[in-house]
Amino acid sequence: ARQFFVGGNFKMNSSSEGIKKIISHLNDSKLDPKTEVVIAPPTLYLLLAREVAKAPIEVAAQNVFDKPNGAYTGEISVEHLKDAGISWTLLGHSERRVTLAEDDQFVASKTKAALDGGVGVIFCCGESLEQREANETVKVVTRQLAAVKEKVSDWSKLVIAYEPIWAIGTGKVASTEQAQEVHAAIREWLKKEVSEKAAEETRIIYGGSVSEKNCKDLSKKPDIDGFLVGGASLKPAFVDIVNSHL
Ligand code: 13P
Repeated sequence: ARQFFVGGNFKMNSSSEGIKKIISHLNDSKLDPKTEVVIAPPTLYLLLAREVAKAPIEVAAQNVFDKPNGAYTGEISVEHLKDAGISWTLLGHSERRVTLAEDDQFVASKTKAALDGGVGVIFCCGESLEQREANETVKVVTRQLAAVKEKVSDWSKLVIAYEPIWAIGTGKVASTEQAQEVHAAIREWLKKEVSEKAAEETRIIYGGSVSEKNCKDLSKKPDIDGFLVGGASLKPAFVDIVNSHL
């Protein structure tokens, strides 16, 4: 069975004091021991988060560059993450794909660099409202994944986060049926394009307006293996989302 996985994406929010508070609350809470919990603070606070977070809470970067070192002002490398004890990174978040024009190839190249270096990847994919209305959801998501398939053969340290753009930060969560349908299509794609094993073992998590209120129903769907939580991960109710699969 796939281990349930809940990620908290703090995005460009909070402060050193705020992050200490959020993590202390997690440390002091009773968390489902069967669920993997990974929080992604802003880059500047990765070391602080690593220091404050108690096992089994893990820490992820929100992005990483695809070159090992060199003249790349403003970027951080997979080696930097490993040196700092950071075992995960988000990649391909729509806020980066859209706002910073990251394309499928660049995201795939960074995914390869992270996995090759032994850093797990929470790979984000998802369609815009326009694409959904044009019935292009599965086409868009599998195109984003196909770029990864070109470069990556071992999918065991990759978690796929399906995040429909129209559901992010809008309070408009995908229905349990809408999410399940896309997750099942992604699993079908994995089976056909990667391997039976990858289809069976890869966690496919949902992101987009997940809250303590809607997480329980979503968590019951057979192909929803967890969540990537934005806004609610900054609040105490994040604990309820971590524990949604209990
Ligand atoms: P919200 O939970 O705030 O909608 O954000 C989702 C997200 O983008 C997580 O990466």
